[in-house]
Amino acid sequence: MSKAYRARRTALYVPASNARALEKARTLDADVVILDLEDAVAAEDKARARATAAAMRHELAPREAVVRVNSAATEWHDADMAAMAQARPDAILLPKISGPEDIEAAKAKCGGVPLWAMIETPRAVFNALAIADAGADCLIFGVNDLVSTMVGRHRTDRANLHAAMSLTVLAARAAGITALDGVHNDLDDMTGFAKACAESRDFGFDGKSVIHPSQIAPAKAAFSPSLEEVAYARRVLAAFAAQPGASVVTLDRRMLEALDAQSARRTLARAGL
Ligand code: COA
Ligand code: MG
Repeated sequence: MSKAYRARRTALYVPASNARALEKARTLDADVVILDLEDAVAAEDKARARATAAAMRHELAPREAVVRVNSAATEWHDADMAAMAQARPDAILLPKISGPEDIEAAKAKCGGVPLWAMIETPRAVFNALAIADAGADCLIFGVNDLVSTMVGRHRTDRANLHAAMSLTVLAARAAGITALDGVHNDLDDMTGFAKACAESRDFGFDGKSVIHPSQIAPAKAAFSPSLEEVAYARRVLAAFAAQPGASVVTLDRRMLEALDAQSARRTLARAGL
């Protein structure tokens, strides 16, 4: 987590062609809103969605506004990139990429807007670290495209995805950037959703991609430190603040080192504090 850490516990996908959902997104408690121009938008709506995303991008603060463009292989990609280089969302999310060369190509078109990368093709899984090192600020695991491109099938326990999930998180950790887990497609399965969030947190993901308002609160809870953890982190930092310059301090007769202060700062950052 070497880059300035921002809490990204929930990233809500909103089709940029769906006016009602866009309006609703402004009232929802997601850390990130992903205005989608890609899979969730029909071909005939692409141009209108692009214009809407460019206009909406300033209306979502304090949420991060990220625009998912169409992939480089499509006829819409260049127009999406040009529009977003001008609209300047908080980031541009690149789908269906294969490797670091795709980040380099996007850098030439994004006008300096930060780039995020979907890890959703077999090649991207193997190249996740090179993609992160090429300058992506966040990796988002893409469940549906990966299951399809690996010619697998969805399983509720996601055992078939564990290797790819770990590689995504490890690449993000090695590069000091954030990693978000993919979506849970079953909108009514709140028990399974909570389980998937807990598992994803155990894997090390910073947050979860969500597709419906009902998924925001449980995902936020799963990826936020508990009240006790936050209180303890504050006490750790207070103990260090009380002894400026000390590399070792005590709290409740336990030794604390610099790494404890670092982990306390990370806890507060994960809580969005
Ligand atoms: N963002 C914001 N608001 C959303 C939303 C979203 N992703 N999904 C649903 N809503 C809103 C609806 O507009 C509706 O609002 P209203 O009460 O003002 O009418 C309310 O939440 C309830 O929606 P509901 O009727 O339960 O859902 P739906 O059947 O209309 O839509 C989906 C279901 C899956 C089509 C929709 O949730 C969606 O489009 N999700 C995002 C899909 C996406 O972007 N996929 C690409 C990445 S995988
Ligand atoms: Mg997709």
